[in-house]
This record gives sequence, C-alpha cells and structure tokens, in this order.
Amino acid sequence: MQITGNTILITGGTSGIGRALAEALHKEGNQVIVAGRRKPLLDELTAANPGIKSAALDVGNIDELPLIAAQLASHYPSLNVLINNAGIMKPEDLNDPSAPFDIVDDIVTTNLLAPVRLTTALLPHLKEQPNAAVITVSSGLAFLPLALTPTYCATKAAIHSWTQSLRYQLRDTKVEVLELIPPYVQTELMGPQQTQDPRAMPLADFIAEVIEILRTQPDAKEILVQRVLPLRFAAEKGQAAYDEFFKTLNDSMH
Ligand SMILES: NC(=O)c1ccc[n+]([C@@H]2O[C@H](COP(=O)([O-])OP(=O)(O)OC[C@H]3O[C@@H](n4cnc5c(N)ncnc54)[C@H](OP(=O)(O)O)[C@@H]3O)[C@@H](O)[C@H]2O)c1
Repeated sequence: MQITGNTILITGGTSGIGRALAEALHKEGNQVIVAGRRKPLLDELTAANPGIKSAALDVGNIDELPLIAAQLASHYPSLNVLINNAGIMKPEDLNDPSAPFDIVDDIVTTNLLAPVRLTTALLPHLKEQPNAAVITVSSGLAFLPLALTPTYCATKAAIHSWTQSLRYQLRDTKVEVLELIPPYVQTELMGPQQTQDPRAMPLADFIAEVIEILRTQPDAKEILVQRVLPLRFAAEKGQAAYDEFFKTLNDSMH
C-alpha cells in the first residue's frame, strides 16, 4: 500500500489506535476521515488537527451502512482506503447462565458484521479508485485466544479468515487487502487501566512501528510489529509449545 496521497476512512477513530493512526496518516500526507460515535471526541480531534474530517457513525447500525458508505463516497469521491478499526472487547463468564447475551451480539456486530458490511458496501467505489486498499484490524488474540474474552477472540479469528478470502476474491482487482494485527497496546479498549498496564505496548511506539512498516514494506499483507510475532506464529511452534503458551498467557491474565 502506498503511504501518502490517499483519502482514508478510519472507523473507530475517536480514541486509541484509530485516533493515533488517523493523526499519523494525516501527517504522512493523506486526507483522513475519522468516524465514530462520540461526537465531542470527533470535534476535539478535528479541532486539534486542522484538515482531518469527521463523520458521526455507529457501525452497529449495520442496516444503515450501505447508505452511509454511499454518502461518504459521494462526499469524498477520492476515498480509496478503508480502515475497519472500530472494535469492542468485553469479558464474558461462560459459567454464568444468567450472563446477558446482548454483549455477545454487540461484539459480533461491531467486530465482524460491521466491517464485512461496510467493506462490501464500499467495494464498488474502491474498485474505481487508484491505489485502493482495505485494511482490517484483527488482533494477536486471533491466533491464541484469551479465554477471558471468548467472543472477542472468536470475532478476531473470524476477521482474519475473512480477510484472506477477501484478498483472494479481489486478486484480479487493484484493491489491496491488508490486515493490521496489533499486540496488547495501551488504549482504553478494556477500560482506562489498560492505558497504564506495563504489559501493554505504549500506543506511540506501536503507531511509530506500524508507520515504519507501511513506509518500508509497501507489499506487506499483514502489518506485524515485533511484539505480536509470538502470538501471530504461536501455532507454528508445534502443539506442545502452543498449549504451554496458551496456559501461560491465560493464567497470567486470570
Ligand atoms: N489495544 C489493544 O490491545 C488491541 C489489541 C489488538 C487489537 N486491537 C483492536 O484495535 C482496534 C481499536 O481498539 P483500541 O485498542 O484503539 O480501543 P479504543 O480506544 O477503545 O478504540 C475503539 C474505537 O472503536 C470505536 N467504536 C466502538 N464501537 C463502535 C461503533 N459501534 N461504531 C463506531 N465506532 C465504534 C470507538 O469509538 P466510539 O466509542 O466513539 O464510537 C473507539 O474509537 C479494535 O478493533 C481492537 O479490537 C486492540
């Protein structure tokens, strides 16, 4: 993917990885449109970064996504890159029969149905653009689940699988398909305490490494910072090593 001169839509750009990526890509010379639900944060972001545009968007309203995609494509005709970054991560107790099931619905809708729906809705437009790309955001946990967050990890494994199929189906088009696979990063994904967790990668370091990969590896299909490599390739180490890593990770987060 080329790193400059794009018009980029980033979902979930009001905080964390989405916001930091929006600011970094803006500095790299891209027109960036940030979408999210929290309007005050969108306003604050655009005020702090003249040139960045915003769009109020709840990706959970999946039936509205085709219309919103059409409106965005009409408003920004040069839109050529979609970054499906919006996501939620919630703990679930599978031993509790009274646990609310709507959490599962919300996670599947936000992390899986929404990127699939938004991507397919925007694809006809993207296919007409030069240097078009779709970037999905999965997780190292797609490759080795954190049992505390079962549905979250399942949606990330699903989006990894779907991304490969999308890349194959688009092989004869000019639309590139990339997957950003973050490690544990200091954002508020699981609450404010995560921003201080020393086990998580500092957000600025993560974004700097991502931008460096985009700059130096324009043909990369998976954007992998060093910290995520043990998770990404956990299965390649053999079953015994995988089982040990699974136990160590899950016991440490208990
Ligand atoms: N941080 C990590 O350790 C980590 C690791 C692996 C993968 N990831 C992935 O990275 C992505 C970004 O997460 P983050 O860590 O930056 O967490 P974050 O700070 O909580 O950001 C999540 C973003 O998603 C947006 N969002 C959530 N539901 C939405 C909805 N229904 N409609 C529109 N936007 C919605 C939020 O914006 P609004 O609330 O304003 O809508 C927010 O901007 C997620 O896909 C996450 O799974 C993160």
